[in-house]
Order: sequence, then C-alpha cells, then structure tokens
Amino acid sequence: MISASSEQAGKDGANRSTAEGFGGLRVVYFESRLATECGTLVEKSGGIAISAPAMREVELSDNGPAISFAGQLLAGRVDAVIFLTGVGTRHLFAAMETVHQRDELVAALKETTVAVRGPKPLRALGELGVRVDLRAEEPNTWQEVLAAFDANQSTFSLEGKTVAVQEYGVGSPQLASGLAERGATPLSVAVYRWATPENTRPLLDGLREIISGTADVLLFTSSMQARNVIEIASAADIVDQLRQALKEVVVASIGPVCSQTLDELGIAVDVQPARGKLGALVKAAAEQALPLLEQRRRQAVPGPPPTAGRREFASDDPEQSLFMRACRREPVERVPVWLMRQAGRYMREYRELRARTPFMDLCKNPELSAEVAVTAAARLGVDAAILFSDILLIVEPMGLGLTYTRGDGPRLQHVVRDASDVDRLQEVDPNESLPFVMDAIRRTRGELPAGLPLIGFSGAPFTLASYIIEGGSSRNYTHTKRLMHSDRGAWDAMMELISRSVARYLSAQVEAGVQAVQLFDSWVGCLSPDEYREFVLPHTRSVFDALPPSTPSLHFGTGTSALLDLQVEAGGSVLGIDHRSDLAEASRRFSGLALQGNMDPAILFAGPEAVRSGCRAVLTAVGDRDGFIFNLGHGVLPGTPVDNVIALVDAVHEFGLRD
Ligand code: CP3
Repeated sequence: MISASSEQAGKDGANRSTAEGFGGLRVVYFESRLATECGTLVEKSGGIAISAPAMREVELSDNGPAISFAGQLLAGRVDAVIFLTGVGTRHLFAAMETVHQRDELVAALKETTVAVRGPKPLRALGELGVRVDLRAEEPNTWQEVLAAFDANQSTFSLEGKTVAVQEYGVGSPQLASGLAERGATPLSVAVYRWATPENTRPLLDGLREIISGTADVLLFTSSMQARNVIEIASAADIVDQLRQALKEVVVASIGPVCSQTLDELGIAVDVQPARGKLGALVKAAAEQALPLLEQRRRQAVPGPPPTAGRREFASDDPEQSLFMRACRREPVERVPVWLMRQAGRYMREYRELRARTPFMDLCKNPELSAEVAVTAAARLGVDAAILFSDILLIVEPMGLGLTYTRGDGPRLQHVVRDASDVDRLQEVDPNESLPFVMDAIRRTRGELPAGLPLIGFSGAPFTLASYIIEGGSSRNYTHTKRLMHSDRGAWDAMMELISRSVARYLSAQVEAGVQAVQLFDSWVGCLSPDEYREFVLPHTRSVFDALPPSTPSLHFGTGTSALLDLQVEAGGSVLGIDHRSDLAEASRRFSGLALQGNMDPAILFAGPEAVRSGCRAVLTAVGDRDGFIFNLGHGVLPGTPVDNVIALVDAVHEFGLRD
C-alpha cells in the first residue's frame, strides 16, 4: 500500500490469470485510523491502494466525553443541550456516530430542549435534522444564551435539570456558573477537533489523482472525511475541478449517514454496503466498480471520443499525412505528434479493459488490441497510431516463455547464458507464430480513420538480447556484457538469429498494413560507443537493410547521447532523440535525417503550463527544419495525468504550425 504521493503506478504490470474484484483499478481511500487495514483490503480485492487520509488520527479515548454524553442522552438522562459552535456540533456528531446511529441521536435530542448560541450551530443542526427550541440573540455570547432560557422560563425551567454544553476548544465557565445559579446541573461535553490531517499532502495528492483522472474508485468511511475533503479542496482552490472529476469516478460510502453528508455536499454516491463495515464497503465497491464504470462509458455520448474531431485529415491517404511527410523530410503545415506508449495504464479506458483481461491476452486478442490503439489515438488527437503489442512477444516463439508479473514487469521462463543456450534458440516465422499481431494490424488499420498512419514496431536486437539473457529488466546488464565479452561466437550467432527474426517480423507488419516501423533499442544506452560499434551496429544495420526501402523506419534508443552517430550509421530514416540529448545540436548534426523527440515524459506530471513551455522548448530547438516529429524522449509513464497529455498534443497543434 502506498500514499498517493509515491511513485507506485509503475509496479502494477500485472498479468493475473483471472481478473477479479477491482482488477487493477486505482482506489483512493480517505480513512486515517484504519488506513493500513483499508489498504490491505483494497489490495486483496485486486485494487491499487492509494491512501489519502482526510482526518487527523484521533484516539477513540479522546472522544470519551462525547461518547459518554451520547450514552446519557440515549438513556434519557439529559434535559437540555446547548450547542455553542457549528464546527463543534459537527465534530460532536462525528464522534458520537463512531458508536451510535445518527437517527437514534436525533430522536433522543427531540426529547430534550435544544438551544443554540448563534447561526452556525443552528445551521449545523439543521443539516443534521435536529429541531432547535431556543436561539440566543446577537451578539451571541453566553449571556444571550442564559437570557434565552430566562425568557422561556414558563415553558422550560432550568431548576433541577441536567444541561449539557457542547464545548469546543476552551470551555465557558461563566455559562456553567450561570446555569448552576439557576438550579441546573451543567454537564460539559468537550469535543476534540476531528481535524484535517496535519500533513495534507497525501490527501492533496489523492485529490489531484482524482482531478487528473488517474483514480477510479473513492472510499469514504465517515461523513467528516467528506467535509474535510471539500474543505481542503476549497482551501487549495481545486474544489470546482474536484467536483467535476467526481462525476467520473465510482464513489462508495460506508453507510447512510456518510451517504447523506455526501449527498448534502453534492457528491453522488454509487455504492453503499448493506452493513456499515470496512470489509463490506471494500467488497461492495470491488464488485460494483467495474460494471458501473462500463455502464457509464456505454451511456456516454455515442460517437467518437471528444478529441477525435480535433484532427483534420488533409487526405484519406495515410501516405500524405503530416507524419509520413515529416518522416520523408517533406515540408509540412504543422509538426506532427504522437507519443511512445500512448496507449497504456495512465489511461482509464485502458485500465478498465486491463482489469478484465491479463496483459498478454490483450496483446493476443486482435479486437481488444485494436480497441486500445484506436481509443488512445482518438482520445489524444495524435497524428499517428501505434500498434498495441509489446516488444517482448517475439521471445515467446524463440522458445523462452514469457509472463508479465505484478510488480516485476516482464519475466522470461528460460534465459540464454552460453553457446548451448544460443543453439536452442528458435528463429521466428512471424506469420506462423505471431499471427495475432498481423490480425491486430489489419483490424487496427480498418478501424482507424483512413488518413491516420499506423506504426508497427519491434524491439531492436540488443534490447531483445538483454531481456533474453537477463530474463527481465536489468540494472547493470552483467550477464549480457559477460556473454558479449567472453564468447564472441555465441554472441554473434544469437544477435544474427534475433536480427533475422526481427527483420522478418517488421516486414510482415508492413505487409499486414502498417505505414512505418519503429525499432525500440530502449536499453542500448548502457553500452560504450566501442561496444556498440563492435557488438551491435552490424546486427541492427542488417535489420534496417532488410526492410522495404519505401517504408519509413524510426530508430529509437535512450541514454544514447554518445551513440547517436553510430545509430545513424546503423540505419533508419528517422532518428529518435531522448530527453537527455541536446536536440538543437542533434538537429544541426543530422541535417540529412528526420528526427523524433524529445520532451521529458516527467514534465507531464508538472501541469499544463509546464507542458506548454516544455513543448515550446522542443519546437524552438528544431526551428523550422523539415523532417521533425514531436514525441517524448521516452514513453508516457504510468500515473501520468491524461489531461496533461492532451494538453501536450494541443500545444504541439498550436505552436507547431508552419508558414
Ligand atoms: O502505445 C503504445 O506504445 C503501446 C504499445 C507498447 C507497449 N510496450 C505496451 C505495454 C509498446 C510500443 C511497448 C514497447 C516496450 N515494451 C518497450 C520499449 C519502449 C520503452 O518504453 O522503452 C519495452 C522496453 C517494453 C517491455 C515492457 N513491456 C516492460 C518493461 C513492461 C512492464 C513495465 C511497463 O512499462 O509497463 C511491459 C508491459 C507493457 N507493455 C504494458 C503496456 C501497455 C503494461 C502492461 C500492463 O497493462 O500491466
């Protein structure tokens, strides 16, 4: 379990065999005292738990006076109650409601004489449904409270009565002695503040997740949480955005009192368990969240997603699109934009699908992978779509076995460590062993707007080799470098087999209907220029050499500042530049090549203004060169607010216009 502020989203690359419960949906909960239990329950139900405590932790014992007052009230031993403050009134109820139902308390108060000092407790009691009998005049001090009792002596005499006084902060000794002078027994009910938390950052981070659309389900376990959420959001000036965003998520409330408060605050409750217990709440939310989200999506305005109309297609021919012309370094009216990993967990539509279907099943189901690719492109309004698949699918038919596990990302069942392992590797015939990829391409192509180009892709030989040897993601690539430096023959044999497979794979994708292909050499930045030249360049070059020359080929790597010249030598008609490289310098150096890049994907977490200036900086770096495709320096990160991604695409559309 994590707090909303921590970077956790990258760890849920889950591939469950059966999707159940929340199925990977992101669940924000406001509980403080039982935060650990709540987080565990959410995770056990398949959700990603995001803790956003909305109340300061108050020990139950601190509410002793409130609870004992409630007991006396319900036992009929209190004759009158004086409420001094609005906030205190609410806190008193919140404390009493940890033990008793609000209805019972309101009914018991009906049997007493209820007095208020001023308009604030009057309003609070009104909201709670409590009738008020006596109201002090202005200026609403203890003197006016006593005067109100004095004026109504004929209907209610204080003589011999037990009068409870709700105190908040400092008590009121004058009021107590005034009551005693009139023959009453004052009963002080000190209320401790059920305050907003001392550190509001996790709560604010949680609220920002809701606003940016990266949260799916909210759990309210008390009515004070709801009030505090609105109070904190108002103080941070985000309450309007929050209210808007609340319409998109599933709101679950622990019971009728909490639901009523949410209702009063204008927050619609979707789920309320029959029993007001934490476990029942999580269970009900886990059962109902997905169907509710899906139902809402179906009811949404039919037709294309809202941003789909923002793109104008100059032509129905994808070859004439901005993207393809930029790949060919032809002049464009506007810089084209698409984003690596534009379809993924940062998008709610994807998370909903993923909650039902393991990742590998998505990749092997042409209908679903087409849906993911098309939805992402339409939602963002980008100028190219990318096939929905993964660079590692090709290792399965090599005979290595592949799973995606929660927390660890991809895992290979067998690894290659020496020459005999290399001998066992199988070359891939893509049409035979990856037919679902070709089906997905045909299907995606058919569903995309005719003029929108579709990009196919593969891992580059080195990056695939690193997975094949390490068995998963790696930090130091020690096994890879050991094989590379200790057995040149085995290394070359392996790289040749991978390269032939990749070349056939990409060519088959072109035949199936993609307009361009990208080679992802994501981890090649761990090599020195000498290593790259010696152990990688010839193999990567063999892939590019085998591709149809009329198809643009994009060559991408990260951490490649020192390798760019060699990558150009290896091939590709478009060179990808990551965010750590100097784009202006690359633009001057590689004037004969199209470039793609390079905004830091982390800027997408910094808000729309930062995104707009990040966008301008990239466009300034390339000036008016032909042959530029706007992209990030690496893929969109999980947890990225989708609105900021849309803001980026909009900014490129705005600032990327050419004369
Ligand atoms: O819009 C798109 O770009 C979607 C298609 C796509 C995916 N992976 C889907 C995916 C593409 C182009 C990739 C490429 C990929 N996969 C790369 C190269 C790009 C890069 O980021 O450098 C690499 C190194 C991989 C390997 C991989 N796949 C890892 C390390 C992981 C787990 C961690 C992570 O980034 O999510 C995956 C899983 C994966 N591939 C997911 C998606 C949408 C997440 C799976 C899930 O839903 O849990």
